[in-house]
Amino acid sequence: MTHEIAVIPGDGIGQEVTPAAIDVLEQVPVDFDFVYGEAGDAVLEERGEALPDETREIAADADATLFGAAGETAADVILPLRSVVGSFANVRPARAYPSLDAVQPQTDLVFIRENTEGVYAGIESEITDGVTTCTRVITEEASRDIAEYGFTYAKQNGYDDVTIAHKANVMRTTDGLFLDVAESVGDERGADYDTALMDALAMHLIQRPEEYGVVICPNLAGDMLSDLAAGLVGGLGLLPSANIGPDNALFEPVHGSAPDIAGQGVANPSAMILSAAMMLDHLGYGEEGDRVRAAVEDVLESGPLTPDLGGDAGTDAVTDAVVERL
Ligand code: NAI
Ligand code: MG
Repeated sequence: MTHEIAVIPGDGIGQEVTPAAIDVLEQVPVDFDFVYGEAGDAVLEERGEALPDETREIAADADATLFGAAGETAADVILPLRSVVGSFANVRPARAYPSLDAVQPQTDLVFIRENTEGVYAGIESEITDGVTTCTRVITEEASRDIAEYGFTYAKQNGYDDVTIAHKANVMRTTDGLFLDVAESVGDERGADYDTALMDALAMHLIQRPEEYGVVICPNLAGDMLSDLAAGLVGGLGLLPSANIGPDNALFEPVHGSAPDIAGQGVANPSAMILSAAMMLDHLGYGEEGDRVRAAVEDVLESGPLTPDLGGDAGTDAVTDAVVERL
């Protein structure tokens, strides 16, 4: 069976790390048909739109999408692409690697972030000069979907600790609903879980991340807490993510286009390669996904390393080392 994959490298280091992920996928015994699409700042300049219709169509028709990064147009590209693939769950693992200098070497967290609503629903208005509002949307349906996904993910991936993050003591109606629904999903399944106020949780994740595993969060909380966890494990060059929908999905590194290092050939390809590994899992090739993760981990341990991790190797040398291990 051949899987059609939309590949959208985008801007900056997206153009450098995306080919690295393709090189790695070509070592895996799965048939892929890669269909390339354009998006981002450069396309906006050339064609007047950051996300051309044909790129949307390529993503909508594919079995999955690999996205590199966009620059200043990121919000105009990635938010619509996430909705093209109907993704309701943003999965962001943050784990420390033993050989690298992490702030908290015990960290092994996965944020399951609601990806469609909350304060990111895009309902903002200016009531009058100097007075603005943002409407926070929380629905029973989306809260149930993310909680179901989170509890299933924890079970399938061997995480014993599940935490529901919320701020229902203040946002009583919206997070009250989110918390009620998520707790009832946990109860229906007879699962063990904790609940945590998201502000206190931010502190506890820094002090003792080893006590946490899967964290189910409303949209904004998940965005912030997962970046906080990125800081615990050694930086953006390592963090992959998945945007999962009912019949489609998009995989992307957490980092952006990194204009400060773009064009130098020194971007760390690990985040993008690990995103491709999440895509393999999603398409049903968990064993191959594990092999890719093991190869990346092996290279992180024995080198070569890119400058963000203290080495002096380029993107290609690191990619070749991963390919060689596979
Ligand atoms: P960034 O993630 O691009 O870079 C932050 C810092 O991390 C920089 O110093 C960069 O060199 C470093 N870094 C990131 N990825 C790296 C990698 N793979 N290897 C080595 N070092 C790496 O975030 P920043 O600087 O806030 O944004 C730059 C541009 O990217 C902006 O135009 C922003 O809008 C866009 N952006 C796009 C995203 C997306 O497409 N999903 C996400 C975040 C930012
Ligand atoms: Mg973010």
